[in-house]
Amino acid sequence: MENKILEIKENATREIEAVHCLKELDEIKNKYLSRSSELNNLKKGLKDIEPAMRPRIGSLTNEVYKEIEALIKDKNEKFYFEELNKKLISEKIDPTLDGTYMKKGKVHPLTATVNEIVEIFEHLGFSLIENQYSPEVEVEKYNFDLLNTPKEHPARDVQDTYYALNAKHVVLRSQTSGAQVHTMENQKPPIKIIAPGRVYRNESVSARKNNLFHQIEGLCVDKNIRFTDLKGTLNEFIRLYFGSSRPTRFRNSFFPFTEPSAEVDVQCIMCKGKGCATCSGTGWLEILGCGMVDPNVLEGVGIDSSVYSGFAFGMGVERLTMLKYAIDDIRLFFNNDERFLKQF
Ligand code: DAH
Repeated sequence: MENKILEIKENATREIEAVHCLKELDEIKNKYLSRSSELNNLKKGLKDIEPAMRPRIGSLTNEVYKEIEALIKDKNEKFYFEELNKKLISEKIDPTLDGTYMKKGKVHPLTATVNEIVEIFEHLGFSLIENQYSPEVEVEKYNFDLLNTPKEHPARDVQDTYYALNAKHVVLRSQTSGAQVHTMENQKPPIKIIAPGRVYRNESVSARKNNLFHQIEGLCVDKNIRFTDLKGTLNEFIRLYFGSSRPTRFRNSFFPFTEPSAEVDVQCIMCKGKGCATCSGTGWLEILGCGMVDPNVLEGVGIDSSVYSGFAFGMGVERLTMLKYAIDDIRLFFNNDERFLKQF
């Protein structure tokens, strides 16, 4: 009996020693330690042997069982660490290697200007109107008629405005001023809004002109709105956008939808007012058009012009960005050249 047990121990030791992988080790574990293993059968048979022998045989069986168990456990750990080591070596990282650099995205300078201007006007109590009222593909009625623009006005010429070829009276809007009309049709006074957006003009592209550009329209309609309100609002805008040191002036002008109309100039940033090529020698650069909303425009949308008055203004986003950062070619905004874009 004792020999049998020692033989089991010897066999198990040899087999565990020779094992190659966890799967084989599992099989051995099953063979020597499971309920139906030889050792367990011997334990079950203890009751049939001579009582005097039982304690010796019993404790020997237990001892061998524990020894085999310990050998399997050691082998198991050995396999575990070998596997782990292999994994660590294969996944080793080299901290001296260069990382993969992700290029940082940036807001386009025109978007940044629109955001900045919108923020300034929101600070002055204006609400932002996005394209919800005012589409880029527009009908002449909103781009011209309701803006008091005569049928024979030169801006309506195909040389200036893009007309749809297969739909009568449909244009790509040439100005954001149509947003004024749309807003007044949708809201009752008091109205105080700004509306940024894309506009299109049939221009030949040059350093100063692109056939797509951006404008920001402003409109304020209420009782007792006067030209001084317009002046105060725009002066504050200019102070906040350009800084307090930039001289400005209001100059008489004409737009069909405002009466009186004005244009606002700021001192040329290139020559500081001395006169240069950028400002055609005048020392001033025009930045926006504005005026008191023409009573015809108010009446056209059903607002009683004897009760209400308003002011409006429109500015070019490219122009304002070029003036602030001394950019001399409008096409730079549209070429997507990273060397230009990453400077902002
Ligand atoms: N729509 C004009 C343009 O594109 C700019 C303008 C002038 C807008 C006077 C206005 C305004 O709202 O009152 O040249």
